[in-house]
Amino acid sequence: MRSNGIFILLLLGALTAYYVYSPIPDEIEERWKLMVTDCFFRSLSHLADLSELLGLKDYMGVMMFITFVEGVVPVSDERVRVTEEVFDGVEVVVYEPDQQGGDGELRRAVVYLHGGGWCLGSSRMGPYDLLARQMVSELNAVVVSVEYRLAPEHHFPVPFEDVYRGVKHFLQRHVLARYSVDPGRIAVSGDSAGGNLAAAVAQQLEQDPDQQVALKAQALLYPVLQALDLNTPSYQQNQDMPILPKTLMVRFWSEYFTSDKSLFRAMMSNSHNSLESASLLKFVNWSVLLPESFHRPYKYSAPAAESSDPSHTIAAIIDTRASPLLAPDSMLRPLPKAYVLTCEYDVLRDDGVMYAMRLRRNGVDVTHEHYSAGFHGALMFTLWPTDFKIGHRMKDNYIRWLKQNL
Ligand SMILES: *[C@@H]1O[C@H](CO)[C@@H](O)[C@H](O)[C@H]1NC(C)=O
Repeated sequence: MRSNGIFILLLLGALTAYYVYSPIPDEIEERWKLMVTDCFFRSLSHLADLSELLGLKDYMGVMMFITFVEGVVPVSDERVRVTEEVFDGVEVVVYEPDQQGGDGELRRAVVYLHGGGWCLGSSRMGPYDLLARQMVSELNAVVVSVEYRLAPEHHFPVPFEDVYRGVKHFLQRHVLARYSVDPGRIAVSGDSAGGNLAAAVAQQLEQDPDQQVALKAQALLYPVLQALDLNTPSYQQNQDMPILPKTLMVRFWSEYFTSDKSLFRAMMSNSHNSLESASLLKFVNWSVLLPESFHRPYKYSAPAAESSDPSHTIAAIIDTRASPLLAPDSMLRPLPKAYVLTCEYDVLRDDGVMYAMRLRRNGVDVTHEHYSAGFHGALMFTLWPTDFKIGHRMKDNYIRWLKQNL
């Protein structure tokens, strides 16, 4: 009996150590809190894998639990009026300053696109709801949070197209007038996959000959920007980092395009490129686009691209609406000024750093804030019990940039 007890204790100890221990670098503040938070995410991910294996519910279906746990019903309060509306068939949540009678003054607007790898998340989550309210109060802005449809149920380009339709609807003069929005002071913004959608929206609007109202700014928070090279130094350095390990990011990418698991496997080994994408590798060539300090011990080797792609998946991957970093210089030159936030401990660090570099080389006014102790998703960890000081600092700096630039 006694040895059984010891065995169980050892087993529990090993399991706890396995779950709780993750290689969290010393630079990161509040490491224990992050370990525990990550432990929850990893346990859920294991459960989701198991569920899919047993044929109960697919992986993303289980991961959606995160969205439900943090779900809120956005309601008006004494400072912010909240309404749920439909913009050209797309659900949006609109947050406005509550000024009775109105003072006739035109306001700024921020169109916000939530993160979650195109597969998870919602405008109606505590952290996004809180962020929208803070932007309304601190910027006297109207915030439009777009509830786009998600993969894997709706693959690319549906999430992008939902967002684009919603944005185009909002950017009409008569609609802006209804919300007392100044057509010269509108930004698009988003975090992670939302940053991907925001960058793509900014590019597409510039390409649209019928578009009359232009964006003044784009603010990209640790954005995902390309799927051609999933082995950049930041992917290598941070493949096991909390919140967004490489396997999860690759899973999001592959599910965005297809439910065929072979793309996931090919992307994991960075062997998903084909002849069709070879000519675009120059736009993600980190040996040229990353400052030396980000190279670390990693040596550049271009992703292999030999055969052609009979399934045409690569055509979607290299679409600039999915991988905005692959846009040619001529598409970057007319873009509005940009704020790009990157984190050192994030597989997506180099996506953001390379985009900031390419935008700057094309004459776009760029503010690049790099957090050397930052981890992916930090800006949304601002609610108890998973609130992090660095998340609050990021949010303050981000809102300050909008205040000064929008
Ligand atoms: C990347 O840049 C290096 C250095 O300029 C160059 O030698 C290499 O051919 C480039 N690779 C690709 C795929 O563009």
